[in-house]
Amino acid sequence: MSLRNKNLLSMHELSVGEVATIFDVAKKLKSKQKNGEPHQYLRGKTLVMIFSKASTRTRVSFETGFFQLGGHPIYLNDASSQVGRGEPVRDTARVLSRFADGIMIRTFSHDDVVELAEYATIPVINGLTDLEHPCQALTDLFTILEHKKVLKGRKLVYVGDGNNMTHSLMFACAKVGMNMVCACPKGYQPDAEVLRLSQEDALKTGCTIEINEDLLAAAKGADVLYTDVWASMGQEDEQNVRKEALSKYQINKEVLDVARPDAIVLHCLPAHRGEEITEEVLEGPQSVVFDQAENRLHVQKAIMALLMSDEKL
Ligand code: CP
Ligand code: NVA
Repeated sequence: MSLRNKNLLSMHELSVGEVATIFDVAKKLKSKQKNGEPHQYLRGKTLVMIFSKASTRTRVSFETGFFQLGGHPIYLNDASSQVGRGEPVRDTARVLSRFADGIMIRTFSHDDVVELAEYATIPVINGLTDLEHPCQALTDLFTILEHKKVLKGRKLVYVGDGNNMTHSLMFACAKVGMNMVCACPKGYQPDAEVLRLSQEDALKTGCTIEINEDLLAAAKGADVLYTDVWASMGQEDEQNVRKEALSKYQINKEVLDVARPDAIVLHCLPAHRGEEITEEVLEGPQSVVFDQAENRLHVQKAIMALLMSDEKL
């Protein structure tokens, strides 16, 4: 299934076949990298990475990954470029399209990323917006596949704030037939339109996407427990209110005990120990968070190669 010249803006836009292709290529590239085999599918190409928010994993995995594929990544942030000084998104899109072969962007407004893609003539990859984090969700499914062998019919329980991560996971689970329960309190539940669209997809793949405020009931029989920070980037002012509202929505021993005995624990990181997850669980034997973090590299290399390479992968 060809993804050549497409964008990756939302998990919802990917077809089931495209997801499978990304996983196949990610598996191949991971093995090539581990075996020291050449895989420079993007020789001579340039990727511009725009960051209007902080990042450790996304920046380093995209930059390292693009370099490993033989290309040259360029890092821009608000302070050091005209992006932060109000140059219109549509101008940035057209200018970068004249120089580079792809754009990766992490910013606040999802609409800005949609506009960037509309005006760009090169592929645009969403590296996180307030609405979605598709590269992370694809990585998460790839990690679950490695550990659990099959995705269809598995149960993922997301604990905490219904945020960008939750949205991409809802779309992702619906796409591959995984059941998902969002254990989120009132006021912090995922977007209603994301819920509607993911439930529509879930009907086609025969799974369910639900919200259940009762954490222990939600977590029962989970194959995967997942959480993310209570206050996302841009919500720093709400930190205290959120801490209070979400205080019971934590992955801890009690929650782990009602999940399946072989359940795995995921967190996109960075983690706030003692808030959305306990130290004991994060560092415990069921946590696969560092495998998950490593897979950002392999999955994003697959995405970049599929969108931008002239070669057959
Ligand atoms: N998970 C993730 O996207 O991490 P960074 O914010 O460090 O990029
Ligand atoms: N929900 C978090 C994810 C960080 C990777 C945020 O947007 O800050």
